Amino acid sequence: MLILGLETSCDETAAAVVAGDGTVLADVVLSQIEEHRPYGGVVPEVAARAHLEHLDRLIAEALARAGQPLSAMDAIAATGGPGLIGGVMVGVTTAKALSMVVGKPFIAVNHLEGHALSARLSPGIDFPYLLLLISGGHCQLLAVEGVGRYRRLGATVDDAAGEAFDKIAKLVGLGYPGGPAVERWAAQGNAARFILPRPMKGRPGCDFSFSGLKNAVRLLVRELGVLSDQDRADVAAGFQAAVAEVLADRSAHAMALFAAAHPEARRLVVAGGVAANLALRDALGRAAEKAGFTLTAPPLRLCTDNAAMIAWAAIERFREGGSDGLDFAPRPRWPLDGGAVPLHGAGVKA
Ligand code: KG4
Ligand code: ZN
Repeated sequence: MLILGLETSCDETAAAVVAGDGTVLADVVLSQIEEHRPYGGVVPEVAARAHLEHLDRLIAEALARAGQPLSAMDAIAATGGPGLIGGVMVGVTTAKALSMVVGKPFIAVNHLEGHALSARLSPGIDFPYLLLLISGGHCQLLAVEGVGRYRRLGATVDDAAGEAFDKIAKLVGLGYPGGPAVERWAAQGNAARFILPRPMKGRPGCDFSFSGLKNAVRLLVRELGVLSDQDRADVAAGFQAAVAEVLADRSAHAMALFAAAHPEARRLVVAGGVAANLALRDALGRAAEKAGFTLTAPPLRLCTDNAAMIAWAAIERFREGGSDGLDFAPRPRWPLDGGAVPLHGAGVKA
């Protein structure tokens, strides 16, 4: 089985060809970092235009690298949401057109499901597992029990983890894109100089909050006045340490809940762009070890947005007989656990 996947929900334009056994035949990603740098953040209209301009060429490149014609694809998949609607429309419309041309099914993939299943591109990752999904738009803990079977144990009540990294980078003047910039600066800093709040740490449940931490950084920056490079590095390190502790604490609660429901499956998977952060992986690895869990993190390339994870999620759905009609409407919001029953009474938000 071969599936062509497209990803256009944020600021990466991507196309990939993946085989049914998980072999990635081609995985092409074009980052729009330079287009958005002057604005210090992703501008939806700029993103949509860039997707439109580059997607056709990237598809041709992915097929050429895979050494396969379009007609060899068993289905054409695209991210159907959630995300910036202009970009999602570009990917969905293109995938529908290609599916009509070759007469093969169209599959609309939930971007979050792409992240959630990306770990299964590596062999030996069986259901169920606990997933910590940390990206630019999301921060949630989910029990992944099968394809299309996700139970949310907790989520952020305000900012997403990646959003917090991006905002702090802007506040402190660390550069763009924010997440990797914070990690770079933090590596040179002293995390013990500024002890920042750890929102939600020690509280029951698995929810997250980052706005208090962001405000604490805002006040600290104001108090410091003109920042030296050492100040910047120390603030970055203090912030990253706070996030690491919070993620480890909330994941520890989730691991306890998950282990009670699935005593046989002790795996914590971390996915999404923020999972590219090695200091955070370290902290999560220690928390997992303490709980008797194994931490699995997809290769860095598969953590940030890409189309291989979209093609793979489509393969998983297609195998179970899933595909979508050409009347599928792009979904700016698309919760992964729509209507799922909570696991052991954990809070599920809309
Ligand atoms: O999954 P992703 O590529 O796009 C979304 O679906 O949101 O995640 C992007 C987010 C951004 O907020 C970015 O700053 C963050 O992931 N990120 C990082 C790192 N690399 C990317 N955050 C912390 N440390 C990193 N090394
Ligand atoms: Zn993503």
